[in-house]
Amino acid sequence: MTLSEKINAEIRDIKDFPKPGIVFKDITPILSRPKLVSEIVDWFVEKGKQDKIDVIVGVESRGFLFGMMVAERLGLPFVPVRKEGKLPHKTIKHSYDLEYGSATMEIHSDAIKPGQKVMIHDDLLATGGTALAAAKLVKELGGKVGNFTFLIELGFLEGEKKLKTENEAVYSIVT
Ligand code: PRP
Ligand code: ADE
Repeated sequence: MTLSEKINAEIRDIKDFPKPGIVFKDITPILSRPKLVSEIVDWFVEKGKQDKIDVIVGVESRGFLFGMMVAERLGLPFVPVRKEGKLPHKTIKHSYDLEYGSATMEIHSDAIKPGQKVMIHDDLLATGGTALAAAKLVKELGGKVGNFTFLIELGFLEGEKKLKTENEAVYSIVT
């Protein structure tokens, strides 16, 4: 089985969660399979090396799960992008629309140094609003987006198109 097939076999589709009409991709069964987790981390680590990434940015909350592991394995800093009101120090914010609702994301103002090349990581790419918000925050702090990485991309929502504003690389294991 390919990595993509192994992930697909573990993802649970939950109908009408958190709202009617949404098919929610539940990744928690993957987290119970440590060997699969290692293979997934390896895949993202390669993308980090390939694009000479300096910092891993993980998006709350499911982007923290693999993002932190990838950062640790690469010996790189991990920076959280969080929902509004959670980060305690000085922050900058960005608001955007979601597949189911809207949100505001924040990053600590001193978390990225100008010129640093960043991987923006999350579990899932839907409309791309969240990842694009994270990219805007990184760029506002003077960072460069080296790549975007996801476990899963919902191809029909065309989030990838939205992210490629400046031709950034977008990598997803499963589409
Ligand atoms: C989900 C997912 C991404 C985002 C993708 O997070 O983990 O962050 O939605 O959607 P988009 O591409 O349309 O922006 P959610 O807001 O459900 O939060 P959670 O990770 O804390 O559960
Ligand atoms: N985030 C946005 N859309 C989602 C979906 N369908 N499943 C899981 N997470 C999501």
